[in-house]
Amino acid sequence: MKSKVPIWQRGSFRITVAIILLILAGGAVGGVYFTQIPPEQPIQFPHNFHVGLGAQCEYCHTGTATGPSAGLPTTDKCWGCHQQLTPRNADMELVVHYAEKGLSIPWVPVAIQPDFVQFNHQPHILAGVSCSTCHGDLTTMTVAEPQKGQNMGWCLDCHQKMSTPEEFVRLSDCATCHY
Ligand code: HEC
Ligand code: HEC
Ligand code: HEC
Ligand code: HEC
Ligand code: HEC
Repeated sequence: MKSKVPIWQRGSFRITVAIILLILAGGAVGGVYFTQIPPEQPIQFPHNFHVGLGAQCEYCHTGTATGPSAGLPTTDKCWGCHQQLTPRNADMELVVHYAEKGLSIPWVPVAIQPDFVQFNHQPHILAGVSCSTCHGDLTTMTVAEPQKGQNMGWCLDCHQKMSTPEEFVRLSDCATCHY
């Protein structure tokens, strides 16, 4: 059966347009995303160890189910456990230092899109997409590691796989992610 959807409303056409635009725009934000080496962090926070203790992702990143941003834990949240611990290395001393001075820890962003991209965690969590699909397996990492290739094609590719053609009209609309 032949599709009655006009060509410019088809996902494949939109993707082609987008790819052409991407080429024209010339990889201005490229490069940054091609490295998987984590940036220098103020504290080498071990995800693997803390997740191993039983701390859930949402315990520290409380925003994922309710809004656009996941959020980072406050120093108070670290202190909730760490005030009962005796520091046995320099990183644990630093937790004490920030907590006693009432300072927030200046974490360097790792999972980040350019300002002109609107990403919202909530619909993804509600649709059952797991954190590791997009962020890698944090249970094997210390500090978060940047993931390769998370460009527009990556978003669109999954949107197409996880939706019906009707839904994909919205999920591939430029205004869904750029406004
Ligand atoms: C659920 C309780 C809990 C929370 C919340 C918590 N920690 Fe910990 N953390 C621990 C425990 C327990 C240890 C292990 C202590 C030991 O072995 O002496 C630890 C160890 C550490 C270590 C040392 C790891 C190593 O072996 O080198 C660092 C660094 C650390 N935590 C940083 C943080 C930071 C930063 C935060 C806040 C973002 C935080 N922790 C939040 C319980 C917690
Ligand atoms: C569909 C992919 C996807 C899933 C699933 C996902 N994330 Fe994200 N996450 C992203 C993207 C993309 C960004 C960058 C957003 C930006 O810069 O606007 C991000 C950013 C973040 C950040 C840093 C910025 C912020 O939002 O505060 C944290 C922390 C985070 N995610 C944690 C999580 C956790 C925890 C889960 C699971 C409960 C999760 N993410 C699920 C794609 C995802
Ligand atoms: C005890 C608190 C804690 C728990 C539990 C925790 N995180 Fe984190 N997370 C942090 C801290 C602190 C940072 C900032 C340091 C870093 O980038 O690793 C962070 C950073 C991140 C980032 C990068 C954020 C950015 O600013 O770009 C992602 C993605 C992330 N965590 C995902 C997860 C996932 C997925 C889980 C569950 C498997 C998880 N975290 C569990 C405390 C936690
Ligand atoms: C692994 C799969 C996957 C990836 C990767 C992914 N998404 Fe999604 N996205 C989904 C699913 C599933 C939905 C929910 C669809 C629904 O509710 O019908 C969604 C919904 C959305 C919505 C809400 C649309 C609306 O109007 O309800 C936005 C905005 C969005 N995604 C942006 C992005 C951006 C930006 C990226 C890349 C940085 C991205 N997504 C990557 C699977 C993904
Ligand atoms: C599902 C989300 C999503 C949709 C829908 C989407 N984009 Fe994007 N777009 C992104 C993300 C993420 C980036 C940043 C990463 C990159 O450069 O690939 C981006 C980047 C761009 C850039 C800048 C490229 C550069 O290298 O600076 C342009 C131009 C662009 N998009 C145009 C469009 C047009 C036109 C449409 C509609 C046909 C569209 N986008 C639809 C997610 C989306």
